[in-house]
Amino acid sequence: MNIDPKMDPRKFWEETYEKASPKTSGKPSAILERFVKDRPTGHALELGCGKGDDAVWLAKQGWTVTAADISETALGYAKANAKRNGVESQITFEAHDLTKSLPEGVFDLVTAQFLQSPVEFAREAVLIKAAAMIATGGLLLITTHGSRPSWSWAPEDTIYPTPQEALAALALDTGRWCEIAVDNFERMATGPKGEKGSVIDTVIALERL
Ligand SMILES: C[S@@+](CC[C@H](N)C(=O)[O-])C[C@H]1O[C@@H](n2cnc3c(N)ncnc32)[C@H](O)[C@@H]1O
Repeated sequence: MNIDPKMDPRKFWEETYEKASPKTSGKPSAILERFVKDRPTGHALELGCGKGDDAVWLAKQGWTVTAADISETALGYAKANAKRNGVESQITFEAHDLTKSLPEGVFDLVTAQFLQSPVEFAREAVLIKAAAMIATGGLLLITTHGSRPSWSWAPEDTIYPTPQEALAALALDTGRWCEIAVDNFERMATGPKGEKGSVIDTVIALERL
């Protein structure tokens, strides 16, 4: 896929979701489920919620969720997803270009599952700001692609940072965070056309001290 990295991010993501089916897998991200299922519930902030499966899963676990995305179309799909699942009253969906604004609040969980973009995106700056919104005892959970499956839009020569490099890029004050996991996790995944393949998720899970 040939994507101009200078393309306007809102336009890029709108066009992406307009072409996509509103259908969802109905399942949460594997890493979200793994690291959050046994935690006490509270107020979660989801960055880049897409079609809303993670927000819906969180709400079903008892979380109150604020879910943000740049694409109004994605947010429309996510709202319909929440309604279908009877959890719309627990989720506030907000449209933000997260490089310009974030939802307001103090959160017990900030989750960013594949908050990645093929167009220019000051991602680390967003994550650093969001990390500062986490309450004592809250969790920062970031998952990024750590490998390139056949269906990926990433260039073939993409170099994936190690989990430690990804953490270092956030320049967090490590004395103020307890490391739950900074690691790679392998799983079987399904691509948009049903392709199956093994993928690596690079995970940063930190608890605010
Ligand atoms: C790769 S998708 C991941 C979606 C979802 N979290 C998932 O795991 O399926 C990246 C998401 O981030 C959103 N996004 C990208 N750039 C953004 C920005 N600047 N502000 C807010 N959301 C953004 C996109 O619209 C998209 O929904």
